[in-house]
Amino acid sequence: RITRHYKFNIKMQNVTRLCQTKSIVTVNGQFPGPRIIAREGDRIAVKVVNHVQYNVTIHWHGIRQVKSGWADGPAYITQCPIQTGQSYVYNFTVIGQRGTLWWHAHISWLRTTLYGPIVILPKKHVPYPFPQPFKEVPIILGDWWKADTEAVINQAIQTGLAPNISDAHTINGLPGLVSNCKAKETFKLKVKPGKTYLLRLINAALNDEMFFSIANHTLTVVEADAVYVKPISTNIVLITPGQTTNVLLKAKSKDPNANFVIAARPYATGPASFDNTTATGLLEYKKPSLSSHNSKNKKLPLLIPVLPKFNDTVFAMNFNKKVRSLANARFPAKVPKTVDKQFFFTVGLGISKCSKNQQCQGPNNTRVSAAINNVSFVMPNIALLQAHFFNQSKGVYTTDFPSNPPFKFNYTGTPPNNIMVSSGTKVVVLPFNTSVELVLQDTSIIGAESHPLHLHGFNFFIVGQGNGNFDPRKDPSKFNLVDPAERNTAGVPSGGWVAVRFLADNPGVWFMHCHLEVHTSWGLKMAWIVQDGKRRNQKLPPPPSDLPKC
Ligand code: C2O
Ligand code: CU
Repeated sequence: RITRHYKFNIKMQNVTRLCQTKSIVTVNGQFPGPRIIAREGDRIAVKVVNHVQYNVTIHWHGIRQVKSGWADGPAYITQCPIQTGQSYVYNFTVIGQRGTLWWHAHISWLRTTLYGPIVILPKKHVPYPFPQPFKEVPIILGDWWKADTEAVINQAIQTGLAPNISDAHTINGLPGLVSNCKAKETFKLKVKPGKTYLLRLINAALNDEMFFSIANHTLTVVEADAVYVKPISTNIVLITPGQTTNVLLKAKSKDPNANFVIAARPYATGPASFDNTTATGLLEYKKPSLSSHNSKNKKLPLLIPVLPKFNDTVFAMNFNKKVRSLANARFPAKVPKTVDKQFFFTVGLGISKCSKNQQCQGPNNTRVSAAINNVSFVMPNIALLQAHFFNQSKGVYTTDFPSNPPFKFNYTGTPPNNIMVSSGTKVVVLPFNTSVELVLQDTSIIGAESHPLHLHGFNFFIVGQGNGNFDPRKDPSKFNLVDPAERNTAGVPSGGWVAVRFLADNPGVWFMHCHLEVHTSWGLKMAWIVQDGKRRNQKLPPPPSDLPKC
């Protein structure tokens, strides 16, 4: 087995965006961070050394972490943070996955600047199930704040109000044409006429789902969340924070002398204000060297793509429904056909009582909260995985997470009188190999809103989705158990529901949360504990000796 070694020095670096320079937290001084590249089956060892004043952890988003839960990364879930001056080696093997994933900080809001792509190539001599691209290009969507984002979120938590929004969205770290310094701050994709490119799209934005499009070009979606899908030909891709989407781009414009704008803009359904800036880049055709002389100083026409309305939920639902697994002999869809345990969780916003150390500015000393089943998750002081592994759950977590919401009402109608949520560090315990069916219903209590729910440690199959209230008598009969999308992040539709299935065959503690960072901060998160199996190869090994201490 090949091991790919990486060293991540977490350090401050001055970076200029929107014509202003600020000091940000980076890996090795790079923003966006370095690319990790491996083949399916390789082992990856990343030594993370913390040289900054903040506590840090890194998460390998979408990596299944089969029996390597200690390397998953979410702070206080699978590990205590790496403190200033300390280091930790994340050690894991890529099993049964190939495609695009990504890494990001998993503590507070540090992932604003700490993120980068993970490219997993197929095993040697194994081709893609689509035409071999001429070139592969990671494209990471993100955002940029002029302010220090740790201060932004800390202030929001103190006041109980919504945090400030970002100042721009970015493509590969660059805002593009919105910047007054656009000459230096625009991502350019130069292509050769006639060639096919594989764009590895990653949405690393903090709080916005994004539409992505390139003027006058059709994109073919071939992979989502590191799982091949049936090709979808489209002008617009919808991608939620946490998701990755590979698309093929054929450079065959009839008008290769134009400048084609690459655009990414939010899809936003929530009542909270969002940053509606469009990040832009440019697609340019390489000219044969002779003619380049002539066209050098000529102003080329700028072609701009058309994107859906910012709150186009119909587009979103239709796009998500089109994503289907290949489900063929080479890449079968291993959908659990039977279900051992069914869960119905509500997800949404509410309000909660302000705690003692806050000065909340919400009405009657309340703060904005977000919850699953009306429980807003409270971060423990030591890592749940440690507490579970060493049988020290007392005072750390409880296992009384409601398996059904404590209230029943019309989720798309009038909100209930009481929109207070409770709080706690509650988990669900699953015996090894439990086949789980989980329905996630948007509560719409403070307005309907889409929530990209991300599950660590597993991919789930999206067997159903719909608008309005989930109907347990009618909807399951329409579930797709043949070729559902297999993903690690799925949007709970605004004012609707999504049903997923997964097999709990990976022992450990697995975080599940909304990937809109503001909702996570407000408590839209919970954890699953998957117990060891009976056989020796079904147990989580003990932690590595350098696992950080709290
Ligand atoms: Cu992409 Cu829990 O994270
Ligand atoms: Cu959310």
